[in-house]
Amino acid sequence: MLRVAVVGSGPSGVYTAQSLVEQTAVPGVRVHVLDRLPCPYGLVRYGVAPDHEKIKSLQGSLRAVLEHERIGFVGNVEVGGAGGVTPARLLELYHAVVYCVGAARDRRLGVPGEDLPGSFSATDFVSWYSAHPDAVPGGFVLEARSAVVIGVGNVAVDVARILARGPGELRPTDVPEAALGALAASRVREVHMVGRRGPSQAKFTTKELRELGAMPRARVEVEPADLALDPAYADPAGLPAVNRRNVEVVRGWAEAGGPESRERVIRVRFFLRPVEVLERAGRVAGVRFERTVPDGAGGVRGTGAYEDVEAQLVLRAVGYRGMPLEGLPFDAARGTVPHAAGRVLRDGAPSAGEYVAGWIKRGPTGVIGTNRPCAKETAGSLLADAPALARRRVADDPLATLRAWGHRPVEWPGWLSIEQAEAALGRTLGRGPVKIPDWSGLLAAAGRD
Ligand SMILES: Cc1cc2nc3c(=O)[nH]c(=O)nc-3n(C[C@H](O)[C@H](O)[C@H](O)COP(=O)(O)OP(=O)(O)OC[C@H]3O[C@@H](n4cnc5c(N)ncnc54)[C@H](O)[C@@H]3O)c2cc1C
Ligand SMILES: NC(=O)c1ccc[n+]([C@@H]2O[C@H](COP(=O)([O-])OP(=O)(O)OC[C@H]3O[C@@H](n4cnc5c(N)ncnc54)[C@H](OP(=O)(O)O)[C@@H]3O)[C@@H](O)[C@H]2O)c1
Repeated sequence: MLRVAVVGSGPSGVYTAQSLVEQTAVPGVRVHVLDRLPCPYGLVRYGVAPDHEKIKSLQGSLRAVLEHERIGFVGNVEVGGAGGVTPARLLELYHAVVYCVGAARDRRLGVPGEDLPGSFSATDFVSWYSAHPDAVPGGFVLEARSAVVIGVGNVAVDVARILARGPGELRPTDVPEAALGALAASRVREVHMVGRRGPSQAKFTTKELRELGAMPRARVEVEPADLALDPAYADPAGLPAVNRRNVEVVRGWAEAGGPESRERVIRVRFFLRPVEVLERAGRVAGVRFERTVPDGAGGVRGTGAYEDVEAQLVLRAVGYRGMPLEGLPFDAARGTVPHAAGRVLRDGAPSAGEYVAGWIKRGPTGVIGTNRPCAKETAGSLLADAPALARRRVADDPLATLRAWGHRPVEWPGWLSIEQAEAALGRTLGRGPVKIPDWSGLLAAAGRD
């Protein structure tokens, strides 16, 4: 019998576990899905925007996998890091280990003023409204009237939309109470979402983009002068479908405009490259952008013309990056673990028993579904190696050994207790389930205080 640890309970971890138990070539595979958090589902719980109820509900299908009789959830166990179990020790417990730890750190801009009070990564903002227990307490929207979101990917769209939503729209979601209160009191009236390239090259997907134009309290504005710079704007016919549809949506906004009556405005800007976060009285006062133009090779070049956008809040939504996990090889340039078809490579050769899937394998792009074929490829490699893996000698009872090493796992019943506590918290607030935002609250609910 093969015993496998999957490290990370986000989509790639859950899909890997599913691929390992739902096959017949190697019968009886047992999987423990470990996570450093006491809660499963990775970015589906702690990244997908709270007002995307349909995507959030994917947690139901991930849950069904984690309830499989040969899969066990083992939360509150970190791999690597201070006090975590090391990759080498994990291999003493399991025939194989699959790393599915994601890539949930922010990328930096590298411009002056980036760290001023009032300038945050979208990662911080998302973690705050998603109640991630490591989130920094949010002074995000307290005094801001105007916000700049840098980047035109789906995370930029998420944070722009959350800033423009009213409390009535967020109350039915699982947003933690403190974030709901702060967003309800928000004075933000203008959100500038700014791309360094053109609308035909933006990274957002059309469904998400359209949603910005369908909000009850916000209108969208685009600058015709920005759009005119994009050679594909006038004739998008030759573009890939998603880019063509994006251009069509933006054109619709340019031609029709949004209802003036709406109190909040989202200004979608293009061909502006951030060069400095501006400061007044020790805080963010705006962003200086350099006007760019297409360079004819898919990129842009600066023009030496600058534009300042006033803002008291800056959110950098310029992508995520993977972090090295001590004891595992890491390709710093790509921010991923080097691999061949999911087999971890040490000094160019496959490392016996170590595999990788998801964002830490491919880099931080792709929607939830993209992780399914990625996980399947990794599981396929592992199953092909099964005869050799089964010969490895491992401890009889990995959970007992983890406990003996000082770890205090939160297993499935502990997670179910957290869910019940969140439902109970929601009831006391007259809301649906409301997330518990701190470690002590989560561990207490799981019976681990
Ligand atoms: C803000 C945001 C919103 C998104 N919204 C959508 C959306 O609406 N729709 C969509 O289709 N896609 C969305 N995506 C993309 C989607 O979330 C990713 O494709 C997917 O989550 C990647 O899965 P993963 O399993 O590789 O990583 P993750 O989901 O990040 O899971 C990694 C897991 O590993 C755990 N972990 C990390 N380090 C360790 C460690 N050292 N030890 C133990 N455990 C560890 C983490 O706690 C986490 O649970 C969004 C992404 C972001 C960033
Ligand atoms: N609803 C959903 O389905 C959903 C929601 C959220 C996230 N996701 C997925 O999660 C993944 C990550 O999304 P993401 O938005 O973080 O990343 P992303 O799609 O890679 O977008 C990053 C954006 O930041 C810009 N950027 C990067 N470096 C910059 C710099 N130095 N200065 C200015 N702009 C810069 C990029 O511009 P360039 O193109 O010019 O580099 C791009 O517009 C994506 O695959 C996304 O689709 C999906």
